[in-house]
Formats: sequence, structure tokens, C-alpha cells
Amino acid sequence: MTGTVDTSAYPAHRPASPPLRVLRSLRDRALDARDTVLGRHDPLVPPRRLVLVGSSQDEFRAIGQQWVETFASQCGLGRFDRVLDIGCGIGRVAAGLARYLDELGSYEGMDVVPAGIEWCRRSITPRYPNFRFQLSDVHNAEYNPTGRVHASQYRFPWRDGEFDFVFLTSAFTHMLPRDVENYLGEIARVMRPGARCVITYFLLNDASRAQLARGEVQPGREFRHEMDGCLAVHRDNPAIAVAYPEPVVHELYERHRLRILKTHYGAWCGTPGARHIQDYVVAEKRPGADAGLGAA
Ligand SMILES: C[S@@+](CC[C@H](N)C(=O)[O-])C[C@H]1O[C@@H](n2cnc3c(N)ncnc32)[C@H](O)[C@@H]1O
Repeated sequence: MTGTVDTSAYPAHRPASPPLRVLRSLRDRALDARDTVLGRHDPLVPPRRLVLVGSSQDEFRAIGQQWVETFASQCGLGRFDRVLDIGCGIGRVAAGLARYLDELGSYEGMDVVPAGIEWCRRSITPRYPNFRFQLSDVHNAEYNPTGRVHASQYRFPWRDGEFDFVFLTSAFTHMLPRDVENYLGEIARVMRPGARCVITYFLLNDASRAQLARGEVQPGREFRHEMDGCLAVHRDNPAIAVAYPEPVVHELYERHRLRILKTHYGAWCGTPGARHIQDYVVAEKRPGADAGLGAA
């Protein structure tokens, strides 16, 4: 494991043939059974067939842990915080956080894929009752194509100002502009004034555009299809990977009264010494930001 971690690899984007899938599934089940027999099974790491982010269970654990370290050391996460994780997947970061947050702190994870939420509810909540998971039937062409609610209209099921810390690791990188716009508004709404949010992106700026033009980006990050003000890797299914112009992101934060504290650039476009693959933006809800907004 190097210092750089991937938050977005998702084998669903690299479909295997049916016989290969059957062979992989048999192999995964055999390896899971072996781990259980040898007492090597980590109850907070899902079985191999569910580990759809990253390439192995060790990487799953390491990446979750590395995000928790980043949040705590660089982004102001505290052990007693009330934390919200949008697009929590199969609990990769939740598993690391469970070992970090005090029992007086709390965690809410939300996602649109039932299998991940069910696993988290079964495996994490019984051990850490202050960790809860919410399934929302929001449409995403890649992850929940039959979802009934538009992401651009979805209202989060939490009260105004309920959270101290909100994060999204590799969720906006799969969402289109109108959806991101609504979600960022919802994120700002549920943050208390002074709360922090950390969100990963593929940011388009002079440096990353130059890398793209030279073809010097990681495989699967060839953003070249212009749509609605963002760039997608795949025209037919943009939700597979989306990049945003950095000024557009800045404008969006400004509109939602989120003050950007720091932007960290990732390894996806060759940033030397980057700790994570994707870029991430650390922001704070401006104190007094709710005044006069007529919050619901
Ligand atoms: C690449 S995975 C990352 C999962 C997790 N954040 C992690 O780092 O392991 C992207 C996740 O975003 C979720 N997602 C996509 N669209 C969403 C939406 N509109 N609302 C909430 N989650 C969404 C997907 O279901 C998927 O679990």
C-alpha cells in the first residue's frame, strides 16, 4: 500500500464475462470461508463479493483508515462530532470512523444501493449503535438506475444544523451538475454554522487540463466529453466519472455560504506527493450563515 489511496475504483465499470464472474464468486466465497476458519475475518470489512471499492479487503481497510486520519489531522474532525457521510457505500470510511469516534459522537451514512446499506446495518450498527445507515431511493444512472427520486430534488431527512462534520468520498464524482447543486444546498442546510465539510472531486484547472491534454492522467480519468458544464469520461453514462471546473465549484460554495478553507489536489492528474487519488475541498459553513435564509 502506497501513501496514495483510490476512492473511486469500482469494478462494475469493468464488467467481466459471466463465466469469469462465476469463477470469481466461487474464489471469493472460498477465501472468505478460509478467513473465518482461521479467525482472520474482520467483522467491519464486508465479504469479498461486496467489496466493490478498491481492489482488496486490505485496501478497503487501509483507505477507510487513511480518510479518517486525513479528516482528523487536516480537516478538524473531532471524536465527539455528529458526522454525516453521503454516498457511504459499504461503509469503508464508516468502519475506520467506528474505531475513532467516541460513543458520544454519532455517524449517519446514506446511500442509494440497498446491498451496502443492509450490510452496514447488519455489521456496524449492532457493534456501534451510534452508527446509523439510511437507504434513499435516489436515481443514479450507474448505481441506482431504477431510483424513483431525482437527486436534483431530494431533500435530506435531517434537520437544519444537525451535523458538525459532513463528508463525501467519491460521490460527487458520480453526480451531474443539477444534482450536485441540490446536494450541496442540502449539505449546507444540515451543517451547523462553523461545521466543516470535506468533499472529493476531479477538479479541472490549468494544471489538470494540461495533464489531460497531454494524456498524463490515470487510466479511467480521460475526461473529454463536455456536458452541462462538466466533463465526463463516458458520454453514454456520465455518472461513471465526472470532473468539474474548479471555478464552478468555488461559485457553488459561495452561493451556499460555504467558505473554502483548503483544496488538496490528488494524484489522479499527477500531483506530486498527493495523499489521495481525488482532489478534496475542505470548507466551513460561515458562522451566521442561516440568518435570514428562512431555513425550513
Ligand atoms: C465510488 S462509491 C464511494 C463509496 C464510499 N463513499 C467510499 O468511499 O467507499 C460512490 C457511492 O456514491 C453513491 N451514490 C451515487 N449517487 C448518489 C446519490 N445521489 N446519493 C447518495 N449516494 C449516491 C453510490 O451508491 C456509491 O455507493
